[in-house]
Amino acid sequence: MKTTSKKIQESVASIRSKTTLKPVVGIVLGSGLGPLVEKATDAVTISYSEITHFHETSVIGHSGKLVIGKFNGVPTVFMQGRFHRYEGHSMQEVVYPVRTLCALGIHTLVVTNAAGGINTRYRSGDLMIIDDHINFTGDTPLLGPNDPELGQRFPDLSEPYSKNCSQILQETAKELSVTVHTGNYVGVLGPSYETPSEVKMFRIWGADAVGMSTVSEVIAANHMGVRVAGLSCIANLAAGLSPTKLTHQEVMENSLLAAGKMGLLIEKAMPRLAALSSGNSRGL
Ligand code: HPA
Repeated sequence: MKTTSKKIQESVASIRSKTTLKPVVGIVLGSGLGPLVEKATDAVTISYSEITHFHETSVIGHSGKLVIGKFNGVPTVFMQGRFHRYEGHSMQEVVYPVRTLCALGIHTLVVTNAAGGINTRYRSGDLMIIDDHINFTGDTPLLGPNDPELGQRFPDLSEPYSKNCSQILQETAKELSVTVHTGNYVGVLGPSYETPSEVKMFRIWGADAVGMSTVSEVIAANHMGVRVAGLSCIANLAAGLSPTKLTHQEVMENSLLAAGKMGLLIEKAMPRLAALSSGNSRGL
């Protein structure tokens, strides 16, 4: 059986057959943030179905494609459409596209998502720079035999989200007069939203926002030695904090509203993110 690193090499080869651009930054687009790819110039779009070993995505609002182009002058790969554990994919399948971006040679990965606000100061439509996470999914993409070509067995996670990246995002937000929080994201399995008691417990643990993606991708990127920046748009107040019931529709609508702000922030930060040193030792 082929190792994961061998399969990833084949995925990378099929991507490289479609473009010569060498992306240095990767951006994972969360719910409602897909339109950001429209800002890419000289872009090549590759649907997941054209990439060796990639699966198709199924969630509404998550069409599966990579867009490789220049974003504010920076060679960038956008991942539009991510996989979730709640769809029945294993965590290894969930992180496969992110691992492929890392193997393409990016040195910095920007992960974005829509999340529920747990911190009582947060409002729908706010942005949050993720400075740490709690993995409450009960799962990890590193389960099973370790593939040493990808990374080490026991990777360090003491700085899962790069402090340099967070500082760049904070300074850029200030320049743009965009208000951002900085907080802790708790990753859950879903697909049901949380109960009010769970939200209360997460708040006691120090979590500021909750969502069903991101943590496994961040673990995989760290495993491969790629620095991570994380951004959440607060699409709703988490369960128990709002008198209304939660719907996917509301999450999508609010994340679309916040996407403009988030897009501007990432766009303006791109040259500084790109200028960070290339620490990626796993460009396969
Ligand atoms: N909970 C979990 N995931 C989410 C939420 C939420 O409230 N909002 C958007 N994604």
